[in-house]
Amino acid sequence: MSITWNNNLLTGVELIDSQHKELFGRFDSLVAACNQGKGRDEVMRLLQFLDDYIREHFAAEEQLQIKHNYPHYGEHKAQHVSFVADVDRLKKQFLSEGATLPLVIQTNQALVNWLIQHISSVDLAFARFIKERAAS
Ligand SMILES: [Fe+2]
Repeated sequence: MSITWNNNLLTGVELIDSQHKELFGRFDSLVAACNQGKGRDEVMRLLQFLDDYIREHFAAEEQLQIKHNYPHYGEHKAQHVSFVADVDRLKKQFLSEGATLPLVIQTNQALVNWLIQHISSVDLAFARFIKERAAS
């Protein structure tokens, strides 16, 4: 399984879209390393690489939301916080268990599903809000 970007996920806000594409790319590298049976160190390195970018991206979105007085900032940020906690949990699991097949499958499904679901609901709603404000 490879993680491919899908244009249905475009928000129309350039910064967010470019960061989402980068996230997908980093995800894909992680999944590829797992599929190729790369060792624990490589998987951990890529998971950390993904984790760093997730934090950077969430911070950028949250700053935009604050700047635009987005009314759903609190709920949106709560989703980010819980995702960061999920990734932390996975890192600990990878460290203790290594890149076992069930863990890899579970990781891929959980993270990718979350990301797609999050982008296609709350990120799109937030982007619409910014664009409407810019237009008015
Ligand atoms: Fe978001």
